[in-house]
Amino acid sequence: MPRTARNGSAPRFEPRPSQWSLRTRIVAVLAFTVIVLSGTIAAIGLTSLRSSLVDQLDSELHMLSSRVMFAVEPGSGPGEPGQSTGGSVDLGQIFDGPGASAGSILILANSAGVSGITLDSAFSVQSLSVEQLTAILSDWPDSASRDATPGDGLGGYRFLLEQRGDSTVVVGVPLAPVEQTISSLGVTMAIVAILGCLGLGSLAAWYIRHELRPLERVAATAESIARTPLERGAVDLERADAPGEGAATEVRRLVSGFNAMIDQVAQAFGARNASEEKVRRFVADASHELRTPLASIRGYSELTRRMSDDLPPDAVYALGRIESESVRMTSLVEDLLLLARIDEGQELELRPVALGELIADVVNDAAAAGPEHEWSADLPDGTVTISGDPGRLQQVLVNLLANARVHTPAGTRVTISLQELPDTVRIIVADTGPGIPEAFLPRLFERFTRDDSSRARATGSTGLGLAIVHAIVHAHHGTVGVRSAPGDTRFSVELPRSSPTPS
Ligand SMILES: Nc1ncnc2c1ncn2[C@@H]1O[C@H](COP(=O)(O)OP(=O)(O)OP(=O)(O)O)[C@@H](O)[C@H]1O
Ligand SMILES: [Mg+2]
Repeated sequence: MPRTARNGSAPRFEPRPSQWSLRTRIVAVLAFTVIVLSGTIAAIGLTSLRSSLVDQLDSELHMLSSRVMFAVEPGSGPGEPGQSTGGSVDLGQIFDGPGASAGSILILANSAGVSGITLDSAFSVQSLSVEQLTAILSDWPDSASRDATPGDGLGGYRFLLEQRGDSTVVVGVPLAPVEQTISSLGVTMAIVAILGCLGLGSLAAWYIRHELRPLERVAATAESIARTPLERGAVDLERADAPGEGAATEVRRLVSGFNAMIDQVAQAFGARNASEEKVRRFVADASHELRTPLASIRGYSELTRRMSDDLPPDAVYALGRIESESVRMTSLVEDLLLLARIDEGQELELRPVALGELIADVVNDAAAAGPEHEWSADLPDGTVTISGDPGRLQQVLVNLLANARVHTPAGTRVTISLQELPDTVRIIVADTGPGIPEAFLPRLFERFTRDDSSRARATGSTGLGLAIVHAIVHAHHGTVGVRSAPGDTRFSVELPRSSPTPS
């Protein structure tokens, strides 16, 4: 039954934008757009507000300068040449009236010279210094008005120049109120923009997270499937959670398409497993059925050979061959049957196994079978017990020791040692034989693998011994490995102390 994915993987923040998730990218683009948009709106708004405030100042300055000019040139109306006072005038008196405020500046230049005054915060008249006059008047542009900073404690000003007759009047008011308005509005706009950006970002993050949740579950499911071993046996594939009714159409299509694909794949794996199962059953049944006729062939050939006195030598030789080949075939059939049973997942008969005793027995048997080799066992003090199937574990040791005997020349030293590790035990079968060619090592535990250049062919081996070792060790949830060099070949089997339910 396909299972359903429950959890998505928590997103981590990646400093590199190329590693960002879709959600982070969309939120970043939104935040960037909001920042650029509000910056542009603020810049345009503040610039136009400033220019309209300055226009307002200019019209106030116009009125002030007209009043001053009228006082200075009483005979002249606006735009008409008038009768100049032609001499010194009391600027303080002229300035005292509507339009002039604290900080306002008045400069009069005529035939009597250039003089300027300002009103301080208490509205008392202060004369402008020469430096201040120079700062205001020098480099006057073509236009009637300009911004300038007189200095000496006076900030930025807006000035307006009017000329009539031989009198030139310059009036100015501080720009500070305008700048203050602009900066406080700028701060307000910045705060609103930041809050807006944060609000929009959080809202967008929440919304995108909400909308993408089904996709995250699809990704988590796909990752979990990628971790599932699919090469053999029954495969239990997860399905992604179906998205809610409110999910976007694209998301629903993707999830349902993904689940349909998983169903298809699960079906295909099911079919594959069924066919593998059939093959395994067939091999097991065929091996089982072959045992009886093989035993008969062996028995009859042996019986007939015993009557060799009445037979010609060729017939005796042929019977000997029939007998030896039937022995070989029996062992092959037994091996195939064993592998088929392990593949079928036949239960191991788990019980406590005293490994030291098992190893000692197997080494004694091997020494009896191969007296030309040197055999030794290196066992720890005390009993080492694990939970396993004693018959199958004995088969592992028998196969490894048989290899060390069959595939090495006489005189080879074979040592089997047992080591205790915290959660596992390790059995090492080492020999001083010629070793296994390196190119051959990666396929060593596959079925029907044997080095044809070695003595394997001569000894009539089939190449199933190590495949059986591998299958039994894996059924015990253990591992098997090999390291080989001329003079030092080591097979290492690691088994858990307590075998869980067999696989
Ligand atoms: N200790 C060893 N020294 C050298 N070669 C080895 C050793 N163990 C295994 N081999 C090589 O690995 C091959 C595969 O071994 P495996 O036990 O699977 O099959 P086999 O011994 O040839 O046949 P079977 O064990 O089924 O009778 C052998 O044919 C041999 O070439
Ligand atoms: Mg072998």
